[in-house]
Amino acid sequence: MLVENLYKKNTHSWMVMGRDPDKRQEVIDTNQYLIQNNGRGLLLDPGGIENFAVVAAEFSKHFELANVEAIFASHQDPDVISSLALWIQTNPKLVVYVPKIWVSFISHFGVKEENMRPIPDEGGTITLGGHDLEVIPQHYLHSSGCLSLYDPDAKILFSGDIGAALLPDDNTDMFVTDFDEHTKTMEYFHRRWMPSNSAKLRWIAEIRKRDVEMICPQHGSIFKGDDVAKFLTWFENLDVGSAWSGVR
Ligand SMILES: [Fe+2]
Ligand SMILES: [Fe+2]
Repeated sequence: MLVENLYKKNTHSWMVMGRDPDKRQEVIDTNQYLIQNNGRGLLLDPGGIENFAVVAAEFSKHFELANVEAIFASHQDPDVISSLALWIQTNPKLVVYVPKIWVSFISHFGVKEENMRPIPDEGGTITLGGHDLEVIPQHYLHSSGCLSLYDPDAKILFSGDIGAALLPDDNTDMFVTDFDEHTKTMEYFHRRWMPSNSAKLRWIAEIRKRDVEMICPQHGSIFKGDDVAKFLTWFENLDVGSAWSGVR
């Protein structure tokens, strides 16, 4: 697994882990993120059950896992949080922020309701070590209950499956290097998995109100600098919900 520091200022930092060369062929490659502030940790979309041992071992080289106090799940998919029950075994007091409409479904991953902190449709704030993170609605992109997380100090946006790319195994770039080339690895995914153009435009308008230096998706490379605006424009112009020929 590759581990990279995305941001560091005083006691506040972001770290990403991904591109596991040893992952099984049939599972999707995922990025796991850890935000730290004042010694407290928040994991974003910690990944599938098959990934748990590798993710936990790798992050524990850089951060005391006992100090991970919470997990943020952008939505309910197994590649996002089927590892949840295992994380809670390592710390029974772990708090899991989930979109409210998914609480009863996520219980099927073996998580008790007492660990879950439902986030309402309109989003809200998560406080980590005295530092506020903003939760922004991302519904229908692609899940019917879906959330982004924005860190106003780091100027980093975690966008879940938005911006995801299915990259060939030999591509280990943590950041997008050639935007136009990169769109080829994103187009089908977004046209297939994102069902709503109106939800897409609403989300883009919300994100443009914020100062974003990095967009961090759950799959594929990270958008940085000029590529942030390029991605929003590309997504704006893409006709989503259109990949299946049966809808034409
Ligand atoms: Fe998903
Ligand atoms: Fe995903």
